[in-house]
Amino acid sequence: MIGSFLKKSGHPGQKFFLLTDRNTHEHCLPLLAGSLPVFESEFILEPGEASKSLEEAEKLWQWLLEHEAHRDDLLINLGGGVVSDLGGFAASAYKRGMVYINIPTTLIGQADAAVGGKTGVNLGGGKNQLGSFHHPVAVFIDPKFLETLPEDQMLSGYAELLKCAFLAGDRHWEKVIKARWEKETDLTGLMRTALEVKISYVKKDLTDQGIRKALNFGHTLGHAFESLTMSKYPPGLLHGEAVALGMIGEAFLSWRVTGLCWSKMTEFTGYLRNNFSRPPFTIEDSEEIIRLMMMDKKNSGGAIRFSLLKDSGDPAWDVECEQQFILKAIEFVVKEK
Ligand code: GLY
Repeated sequence: MIGSFLKKSGHPGQKFFLLTDRNTHEHCLPLLAGSLPVFESEFILEPGEASKSLEEAEKLWQWLLEHEAHRDDLLINLGGGVVSDLGGFAASAYKRGMVYINIPTTLIGQADAAVGGKTGVNLGGGKNQLGSFHHPVAVFIDPKFLETLPEDQMLSGYAELLKCAFLAGDRHWEKVIKARWEKETDLTGLMRTALEVKISYVKKDLTDQGIRKALNFGHTLGHAFESLTMSKYPPGLLHGEAVALGMIGEAFLSWRVTGLCWSKMTEFTGYLRNNFSRPPFTIEDSEEIIRLMMMDKKNSGGAIRFSLLKDSGDPAWDVECEQQFILKAIEFVVKEK
């Protein structure tokens, strides 16, 4: 499939550059034997969020330059969210925009990160503080990559699928809550729903000015939890684990601020609590969590902005919440079941 796409969309003399990390180089690249074109060079990252840095982006630019890559050569990002975010970011600035494709190898990459053209690196302890919108020319999603994925990585991706099922409305959400997640759970239907939701929002709002922001449900608190735990509770929460806790807090805020009904709020947060671990942080961390949220890109006018829900399938975005409710939401996240 990749081969035939490249035959159609490529051009004679096009060079291919491969970006992987040590894990995807070892475990995923062999699964593509015979499908990828012969590449000019491969850049192998250290796995993990620490690679999503400006320093690493600079190394990528140097690498592309040394190999005389042109903007219409192709960068192939083979990996999870770190690889596609960093590779996409490097591609967006290299010679004002190099062509790239994503081959996401994690559930979170397939369900969210690799699709929609958001790219970025972290800066100053904050997630994605530098970034751009630069769309891949294609995304190839193959469930075979998920077969060897560790359970915690699967669960992390499951959080983004749950977010989209809740955004998709009652009909989709009711199918999900019937069963606790297990590694064997068939995710095909959920993945389809997640991609349909995401693609429909992205098509209406390519650059995140309106409805696309609904996809950030759980992410204002979630990104702060992720940053906090990376520095104070290493190795930190995985992105989806942090988003799951963020959704618990933001479902609470949705109940207090945008009118999500109590029964849906408790059903949704109860399901998340049953499937995800308790947070490693405590109520004592609230001040730092608020400081981190102040760095969030979604803010404006000095106020923290949230993407919440009025109902399942009925999002609200750019919602300002009073500090007292935010503190209550953090308390709700850390409380015992
Ligand atoms: N991850 C949310 C978005 O792509 O808009």
